[in-house]
Amino acid sequence: MNPGLDQLQQYPFERLNALKAGLTPPPVSPIVMAIGEPKHEAPDFVLETLKKSLGGLSIYPLTAGTPELREAIAGWLSRRFQLAEKIQACHVLPVNGTREALFAVAQCFAPGPKHKGQAAAPPPPVLMPNPFYQIYEGAALLCGARPYYIDIDSESGLPRYEDVPESVWQDCTLLYVCTPGNPTGAVMPLELLGELVKKALKYNFVIASDECYSELYFDEGAPPAGILQAALNVGNDGLENCLAFHSLSKRSSLPGMRSGFVAGNANLIETFRLYRTYQGGAMPPPIQTASIAAWNDEAHVQANRALYRRKFQETAPVLAEVLPVTIPAGGFYYWLKTPGDDKEFARELYRRTNVTVLPGSYLARGSLSDETYSPGRGYVRMALVATAEECLEAARRTRDFVKEFYGARLAEA
Ligand SMILES: Cc1ncc(COP(=O)(O)O)c(C=O)c1O
Repeated sequence: MNPGLDQLQQYPFERLNALKAGLTPPPVSPIVMAIGEPKHEAPDFVLETLKKSLGGLSIYPLTAGTPELREAIAGWLSRRFQLAEKIQACHVLPVNGTREALFAVAQCFAPGPKHKGQAAAPPPPVLMPNPFYQIYEGAALLCGARPYYIDIDSESGLPRYEDVPESVWQDCTLLYVCTPGNPTGAVMPLELLGELVKKALKYNFVIASDECYSELYFDEGAPPAGILQAALNVGNDGLENCLAFHSLSKRSSLPGMRSGFVAGNANLIETFRLYRTYQGGAMPPPIQTASIAAWNDEAHVQANRALYRRKFQETAPVLAEVLPVTIPAGGFYYWLKTPGDDKEFARELYRRTNVTVLPGSYLARGSLSDETYSPGRGYVRMALVATAEECLEAARRTRDFVKEFYGARLAEA
């Protein structure tokens, strides 16, 4: 058996179910804000294209995808991140959602000790933000590497890369970046991404930049930067050591379609394609055709953003009556500082109002430098995925809950 399996942590949603077990919420409509599953309408024209393409099910797809799909993706990337002709079909590989690809990238590029023939040596580190999307950790453990957590800064919400010792950068095989971040929604500036690109070149590790929230941003005039843009910006024209992960799940509200892509250096993409040929990661043909339609359209994405923006604008003043609230630059989560313990907050909010949020400590590990500290503790993640009406109702219930449950304590403080 893979020894990494014993080290896997319980998934946050299992822990949440355990936290809620045995509680009876009041008989008001349940509002679930724990899971980041987009609930906006899927674009009609994509569904129509999908239906018309079902005939494609009678052929085996290629791992590389069709040239048409890769060209559509390269075109989108080039327009979105101003990459011009630097990005072409050979820099792109379709994947069945970024989740599986973020897992696979570690198996492909982060060698565990056994691959280096040095079983006794400590496993090489795979670096990731803390708190983080749980797949990064599982991927690192299951390839025999060692997760190395970089705590986020409580002000900026960005990982404190400056705290990582030089020796860790030297041994690093893979760095997971998440921008806009889940759960904080913090967006990494182009310059910071550029610094990481330079480190990756200096110490020869791969950057897996998870940009699946890149199309959900608050300021229409300031789309988040990406790793490929940052690579070109620091003169890395070959996109060496860089891979960006994008998805239709959040951008186009199509989480069930399982469609995304990885893009970056042509040699890395070719290696990844080879790996995935054995893994069996080809995208079904109708999904490929529907994905082309989705990547070629921006109008539905603008409408999607506008709806998230409206939800943030409506809920922020309500929550701000009782909690410190910042509308994040990207993504669809609030990362809310709780007046007390985050698990207690989530449990009591559910028990008293039937609103479900996720305790931040389920998304983070204890700090490497101070085991008593976890950068997720004292926060909850609230996903604005339900309808605008439900989100507003959840904000009102949360406000009333905080007043009632913490009122006395807040007044004393
Ligand atoms: C940070 C992050 N990365 C990747 C994913 C996976 O998205 P998908 O597999 O739908 O592309 C998610 C989904 O919630 C996420 O939050």
